[in-house]
Amino acid sequence: MNERTIFERAVHDGAFRVLITRQKLQKRIRELGREITHDYRGKEPIVIGILNGCFVFISDLVREIELDLEIDFLKISSYGDAQVSSGNVTMLKDVDANIHDRHVLVVEDIVDTGVSLKYLEEKLKALHPASLKFVTLLYKKDKAKIHFNIDYVGFEIPDEFVIGYGLDHKQILRNLPAIYVMD
Ligand code: IMP
Ligand code: MG
Repeated sequence: MNERTIFERAVHDGAFRVLITRQKLQKRIRELGREITHDYRGKEPIVIGILNGCFVFISDLVREIELDLEIDFLKISSYGDAQVSSGNVTMLKDVDANIHDRHVLVVEDIVDTGVSLKYLEEKLKALHPASLKFVTLLYKKDKAKIHFNIDYVGFEIPDEFVIGYGLDHKQILRNLPAIYVMD
């Protein structure tokens, strides 16, 4: 097969538009890490990543947080391979840690409609954590149907489908090193 892969086209042929460069991601994540370190001083939070999209962001973020912390993951599904939320969220893998009386920080890659976070907020609140906060790398502010406070936002972005840095299109392109817009 001598056709160029979608990865090669994205990175080498400029087929996708870069929205946020690696450098900008790095700088902003360092700032978020500092803020979180400050806010959780004296506490030992559980950082819960939402699979699969969070895996790149969470790995960079926790290395900028200078605290003792635990890391756990859960997995939910709402999109399938579609680019538009179905609105139905299901739990595919629940959190393993006991979060009762613990300080919980949920890490998302992107908030689009807000349906996923709303669902998680209700699920996790029912387990009575000492505190519950949310951090998302990307936030489609104008799109969000459900308005609740997201405690830490990396970047507000326009309502466009983005990929890379953990975010997928049909399960590929998560390994692109920056955030791209797929036109
Ligand atoms: P929400 O429930 O509509 O807020 O959707 C959140 C989830 O949808 C995210 O965790 C992503 O997995 C996925 N998602 C939303 N927008 C995008 C996008 O632009 N690119 C890739 N995945 C997205
Ligand atoms: Mg996700």
